[in-house]
Amino acid sequence: MVNAEKIGDSRRPLYEQVADEIAGLIEQGTFRSGERVPSIRQLSRRFDVSINTVMQAYTLLEDRRLIEARPQSGYYVRSRVPEIREPVLVNRAVIRPAEVTISDLCQQVMRNMMNRELLPLGSAIPHMQHLPVDRLNRIMASELRRCREQSLTYQMPPGYERLRVQIARRAIMAGISASPGEVLVTSGCVEAVLLALRATCRTGDTIAVESPFYFNFLQMIAELGLKALEIPSTPREGISIEALRYAIEHNRISACLVISNFGNPLGSLMPDGRKRELVELLAGRGIPLIEDDIYGDLSFGKERPGSAKSFDRSGMVIYCSSFSKTLAPGYRVGWAIAGRYQAEMERLKMMMNVATAAPTQLAMAEFLATGGYDHHLRAIRRIHARNISQMADAVAGSFPAGTRMTRPEGGFILWVEMPEGCDAISLYHQALARGISIVPGPLFSLSGKYRNHIRLSASLWDERVEQGVRKLGELAHGLIHG
Ligand SMILES: Cc1ncc(COP(=O)(O)O)c(C=O)c1O
Repeated sequence: MVNAEKIGDSRRPLYEQVADEIAGLIEQGTFRSGERVPSIRQLSRRFDVSINTVMQAYTLLEDRRLIEARPQSGYYVRSRVPEIREPVLVNRAVIRPAEVTISDLCQQVMRNMMNRELLPLGSAIPHMQHLPVDRLNRIMASELRRCREQSLTYQMPPGYERLRVQIARRAIMAGISASPGEVLVTSGCVEAVLLALRATCRTGDTIAVESPFYFNFLQMIAELGLKALEIPSTPREGISIEALRYAIEHNRISACLVISNFGNPLGSLMPDGRKRELVELLAGRGIPLIEDDIYGDLSFGKERPGSAKSFDRSGMVIYCSSFSKTLAPGYRVGWAIAGRYQAEMERLKMMMNVATAAPTQLAMAEFLATGGYDHHLRAIRRIHARNISQMADAVAGSFPAGTRMTRPEGGFILWVEMPEGCDAISLYHQALARGISIVPGPLFSLSGKYRNHIRLSASLWDERVEQGVRKLGELAHGLIHG
């Protein structure tokens, strides 16, 4: 915690050095407002200095108004009125596009999603306001009490059985008949897709993906030493079967990865007939299909759309999903129904990650059994449908003429195509400098496409978000008209 070696500069009084060390820890957030700093005795032992020196150091910190003494209790960090700071300009590295690669930009974008100082207009994360936070917390607490030992031990792959039963039951809604033994619990959907890629491909292999495509998967493909063949996709049909057929005829493709329902970023929904064609085309060539259906439960219609997996007759479709878009992204509970790749994915999971955390598996199982998941889904689908429509209206009313956008029938993501010449990366940086985060289109391709596109998220709609969208529109106008 405390770096004793830093103390020992003979030119400065010891107490000042101790005070500076503690001040540094407060500044960095190791000790926050209202928290107790180490006791005088602890610090004297840690720094190997006298009690008197630490007392002098603490007096100095009191004078600097950084800490305060509380009788019978110790010293505490004083609460400070938050500084007014330029949210992003502080980090100048963020605003130099020329030096930034797509992979750096992905990292920045992911970090922006967690930066509370920014208005998150791009992140595909459900807003906490719409999640059953209290109910989940209560369930988690009671499950930890009820399953004292089970919550502490490894829930080895394929995972906690009660959860797998619930997932298998819900899979019927996506047209999938699976036994609990055919479900593999993973740490989120991302891990399911990672295991699927590992199980089906070797370094140097080529994967057919939709284009535009979720940037994290593109990065993962590159990171695994695989190549992505980007196949055009449309909002109404998803991946183009015709283009995929052509690609298969002219390339050696080891697997195909698609987001079948309300894809990211197009919100594309493959009609059932197209899903069947896709499965048959790939199975006919012995190519596995990795299907990400993470948004499937978020349909605006009455019925949830089916899955490509429902047409799988040969065990070649690896179905992947999670509760990250509907319940709790931080729980990291996802799953795969992997057909003939199940055993290999279980082996890989055990080797690379041992098991998904037990407490969240227990809580999720109980929530699915008793927590009113369907009721919750109905509520958030209505909210997202309304938010998407309001955001689309605001974009239409404030972006330059010639702007087009998707009209998804589920999920909460909008893909906006601005007029040619309206550079999405410039817009991203300008927006960031004004405290707004978006996701620029070029992240959704490894081959430099989508320079004038952005992804927006309508997981929340309120006055601030509306003003943010209008600000983006203004900036986009500026980019066109100089
Ligand atoms: C299509 C898609 N798959 C997977 C994920 C991440 O899933 P998880 O948090 O369950 O790993 C996202 C998150 O944005 C996504 O959009």
